Amino acid sequence: MKAVVTGAGSGIGRELARQFSALGMKTVLVGRRLEPLQMLAAELPESEIFQADLGEEDACLRLFEAHRDADIVVNNAGFGLFGEFTQTDLHRELNMIQVNVQAVHLLTKLYVQEFVLRGRGKLLNVASAAAFMPGGPLMATYYASKAYVLNLTRAVAEELHNQGLRHITVSALCPGPVKTDFDRVAGVHFSLHGLDSRKVAAYTVKKFLRGKRVIVPGLTMKLARFFSPFLGDRLQLRSAYAIQHRKKSR
Ligand SMILES: NC(=O)c1ccc[n+]([C@@H]2O[C@H](COP(=O)([O-])OP(=O)(O)OC[C@H]3O[C@@H](n4cnc5c(N)ncnc54)[C@H](OP(=O)(O)O)[C@@H]3O)[C@@H](O)[C@H]2O)c1
Repeated sequence: MKAVVTGAGSGIGRELARQFSALGMKTVLVGRRLEPLQMLAAELPESEIFQADLGEEDACLRLFEAHRDADIVVNNAGFGLFGEFTQTDLHRELNMIQVNVQAVHLLTKLYVQEFVLRGRGKLLNVASAAAFMPGGPLMATYYASKAYVLNLTRAVAEELHNQGLRHITVSALCPGPVKTDFDRVAGVHFSLHGLDSRKVAAYTVKKFLRGKRVIVPGLTMKLARFFSPFLGDRLQLRSAYAIQHRKKSR
């Protein structure tokens, strides 16, 4: 079995790649920076590096062409950006949309089409607990990008289910804060205690291989997901603003 993992050089992606490797799978480690990918490749038997900037459409197409035989695909690469929408850098946001949305969309489309031809395959899109919120003031583009990923994944999963394609699953991972490089890249400090990325990956792989559609690690986020709709959109947006604001001012 072969598993392609994007953003495998650090954080959640690195731990997911380790989990798949521990299950005896070949892994394809995708990312921009060569050094962390090389370090991981040295650790994992039967691993291969695919260096690519997934913000470029061409790179996504090349990845698919090179590894269209993958049995498992994880769209994990992504990043956030903190700040007032009127002040954040437009080009960084457009790049975020290319990585968090366009690359996920493109690879989901190509791989799920391939899985349908083959009659089997598994795809995991890394969204976020942010996707359950009506919006994310001070991280507006990031929250919107993750809502896209979750909604796309759920819709495709339902289509496949209705076509009776039981051996093809698409899942979305929706974690709350996880201890990774994410906060440094986004320029925030989490106000909640982040989960351990290894534990998140172990939990995720177990649920993913069973075909669970939406995977939410940790009790806190499970409870938040359950109760937040009762708060109403306005209250959720106000508390999201307060939480995000605290992150910056720490
Ligand atoms: N940590 C959290 O609290 C949290 C919570 C919810 C969801 N998530 C999501 O989890 C996913 C993984 O993030 P993480 O927390 O593990 O953070 P991370 O440690 O910063 O990992 C992000 C990975 O994405 C790769 N990446 C970024 N831009 C890329 C590009 N243009 N092309 C190819 N690879 C790219 C990075 O590698 P290179 O820089 O080498 O390319 C890096 O390995 C993201 O989608 C994030 O939104 C994280």
